[in-house]
Formats: sequence, C-alpha cells, structure tokens
Amino acid sequence: MNTLIFSSSEDLSQAAHILRAGGLVAVPTETVYGLAANAFDSQAVTHIFKAKGRPNDNPLIIHIASLHMLEDLVTEISPVAKQLIDAFWPGPLTLIFKASPKVPKAVTCGLDTVAIRFPSHPVIKELIKASGLPLAAPSANTSGKPSPTNARRVIEDLEGKIEAIIDGGECEVGLESTVVDTTCLPPTILRPGGITLEMLKEILPDVTVDPAILNSLKINELPKAPGMKYTHYSPNAEVIIIEGELNKVIPRMQHLCLEAQKAGKRVGILATDETKALFKADVILSVGTMSQLSTIAAHLFETLRHFDDEKVDIIYSLSFPKSGMGGAIMNRLEKSAGHHIIKV
Ligand code: TXA
Ligand code: MG
Repeated sequence: MNTLIFSSSEDLSQAAHILRAGGLVAVPTETVYGLAANAFDSQAVTHIFKAKGRPNDNPLIIHIASLHMLEDLVTEISPVAKQLIDAFWPGPLTLIFKASPKVPKAVTCGLDTVAIRFPSHPVIKELIKASGLPLAAPSANTSGKPSPTNARRVIEDLEGKIEAIIDGGECEVGLESTVVDTTCLPPTILRPGGITLEMLKEILPDVTVDPAILNSLKINELPKAPGMKYTHYSPNAEVIIIEGELNKVIPRMQHLCLEAQKAGKRVGILATDETKALFKADVILSVGTMSQLSTIAAHLFETLRHFDDEKVDIIYSLSFPKSGMGGAIMNRLEKSAGHHIIKV
C-alpha cells in the first residue's frame, strides 16, 4: 500500500474522506500520535489491530470533538464523569463509561464499557469534525514499541500498512493520556498519564489507583485496563533503571557501563541535562531537565527510540521522582525495563 503523507497545514478533507471510506489515518494528538479509523466501522477497526500487530483483547479509545458525540457512545454519564469532563476536557484524559450498544465489539473487545477521550490538539479535532465521525485510535506504533511522538516514528512503524499519515510535528505531552474508570466508586486510575494524580485529587479527593499499577511486580493482580498487562514501550535494547541518591547512582551506572563494555556490549546512558556531562559511554542522551519533569515526559519515548537508532545493546537509565508527571514517566520507564531496577 502507498501511504500518503499530509502536512497538518493542508486541507484535511482528503484524510477525512479516507476515514469515511474505511481507511486508516495516523494523526497527531497532544499526547502521542494516534492511528485512527471510523469507530462505527468494525472492519476498519479490525484493520487497526492488524497494522499494529495489536493483541485482540486490548480495547481502543474513541476520540470525540464535542460532548454531543459522547451521547451516542455511552449509556450513562455519572456525576463523577461530569466533574472530570468539566475540569479536563478537551485534554489528555480518557474516561471509561458504560458502552452504548451502538459501539462495535471490535472497539471494546467485547467489554461492556468504552474508553472515550476529547483531545485538545487542533489537528485531530479538525479531522473528527471534517469526517463527522468519532475516531477509534490507539497509539500509532507497532505494538510493544514506544509510542510515536512525531511523524517520522509513525512512518518507521506503519508506512505501507495504512492509507495516510498527517505530520503535525512533535507532540507536546509525549506520554499517553491518563485513563480513569468512572463506572465504579471510588473512580479509579487505570493508567497514569498527562493528567496527574495530584490534578485529579483536586477535583475528586477520593480517586484511587488500580492496585495493578502500584504493585506492578505482582503478577497476580490483573490490571483493569487490558493494555497495561503487556510488555510495552520497549526499545530493542535491554533497559536497566538505577534507583537511589544521585551521588551513588552516577558512579554505579558508570561502573556498570564499563563492565558491560568489557563484555563487548555497546552501552547507552539515559541521563538528564544536569548529569549528561558526568558520564562516559558509547551513547549518552539527555531526556530533559530534572527541574521540569514535563520535558522528560515529552522526550522519553523519542529518546528510547533514538537509542535503537544508535544500535546500543543495553541502556542504563536514571530514575525520576514519582510525583506529578513523574508518576507516568516512571510507569512507562519501568515497563520499558521489564521492571529491571537496581537499587543503590
Ligand atoms: O493518549 C492516548 O491515550 C493515545 C492517543 C492516541 O489518544 N492513545 C492510546 O491508546 O494510548 P492505546 O490504545 O495505546 O491505549 C489505550 C488504553 C489501553 O491500556 C487499553 O487497555 C485501555 O486504554 N482501555 C481501552 N478501553 C478500555 C476499557 N473499556 N476498559 C479499561 N481499559 C480500557
Ligand atoms: Mg499504545
């Protein structure tokens, strides 16, 4: 298949036409790029799973561009959901609702709930409006790889497998949306993301976190967001996180690096602007500045993919505080490391 590449400044009517005809279009959002199809077209939705190599028990998020669209997709909007919508939509927050019977099983993978997000990015909003369709869209990567935060990475994974890609530059948040289940009490965070726990607590003080996220090492807890159980966000290289006080972490990382090099490995170090100059390794990349965790969130996936471009065998990574955006950053980083963490 010949994949068309559009610029986001072009007229989106051709991309909208592709969606109405059952095709797939990758589109920028404020979190990561999404791979979109008409949410009401089961066959088009099935093609998403095929293009990504996505397991067929992992449901998709439906993207809307008006609250009017929501009414067609859900049977109930609870008071909790209403509060979150008022506070955070449009934006990087996905809410779980009881699904309307109109939502195809291909989207929900047979669950009686559906995930909905009203994104803030102008390009996906315009595409939803131009097509007149709610869009089912997972992240636009090959399943298991870090989500793409620019069009180049979408092209790398999906060119030739989908009808079109809209290039809208870099994504601002860089990590996927927060997923909150509003069908239960207390409302529960199923995936940490762009809207932090602290921000949610300001609106809903009793919001809780799915225990499967907190105790991610205990495999007897099955996460309620099916996608959270898969190995994810993994570059080809092995990732190992070194956790502890920086004055102990840095020499330990440097030592591990030298040992691995002696064993014939090409070693990468995931550092920060503040620590980059302190290391010697084959490839040293700064993921952002410690003084602003949002910069680390924005560059994490791209940095992991950059290590693969550099063909390193192993990546030693700093760890980050788990408050604010750090919650989502460490959730993704720990998954990319398969929870391989060395505490010093
Ligand atoms: O920021 C984002 O959310 C991006 C952009 C493109 O919007 N999308 C994204 O989609 O990250 P995806 O498919 O990669 O992740 C969707 C997550 C998965 O963990 C999935 O299991 C969960 O949402 N999910 C979807 N429907 C669900 C449901 N009914 N109940 C519980 N979890 C659900
Ligand atoms: Mg994904």
